[in-house]
Amino acid sequence: MALRLGDLAPDFKAETSEGTVEFHKWLGDSWGVLFSHPADYTPVCTTELGAVSKLRDEFVKRNVKVIALSVDDLASHQGWIGDINETQETEVNFPIIADSEYKVSNLYDMVHPNANDKFTVRSVFVIGADKKVKLIITYPASTGRNFVELLRVIDSLQLTANFSVATPANWKDGEDVVISPAIKTEDAYAKFPKGVKVIKPYLRMTPQPNK
Ligand code: BEZ
Repeated sequence: MALRLGDLAPDFKAETSEGTVEFHKWLGDSWGVLFSHPADYTPVCTTELGAVSKLRDEFVKRNVKVIALSVDDLASHQGWIGDINETQETEVNFPIIADSEYKVSNLYDMVHPNANDKFTVRSVFVIGADKKVKLIITYPASTGRNFVELLRVIDSLQLTANFSVATPANWKDGEDVVISPAIKTEDAYAKFPKGVKVIKPYLRMTPQPNK
């Protein structure tokens, strides 16, 4: 059955461009992003891996380790990394899984046969420090992902993991957040000392608690 939010992220051992990775051990106490690519030496993937490399400091700041996957072998990955570094003017700074036997792709349901029976779609899994799946996004091969949006969602996930809040539409780090419906308004004032704005009994806002 396909993975769902809240499931334990399946563990695996895989060869990568940075050596053998035992996934859960490699994650340690960090959050993780596992994302797949249709194939090496393809244009959209080349731009994506360059974009993620350039965001390294942003992922480190959030205690997130990044790992990519493509169903080509290690030799292919090594050659392609040279091209990514050259064309995207960066250095690929995370491992790329060589999944030519589709072990990890199948474990994470990354091949969608009605889209393409040979290549993985553009899957993204965000995995929490508890190794549970927090976010699943699937893009078609022809659409490059927005990794700034991914950082925004990670900010939301990490905030809501620690406080009784949710984030509204188009929220960005630093903006007001929604008080969880589980919190009664009479209890909210003590819980959110920065202020509580009651717009409707079910719609209460507060400044971001960790800012
Ligand atoms: C790409 O990564 O450029 C790509 C891969 C498969 C289909 C279309 C684009």
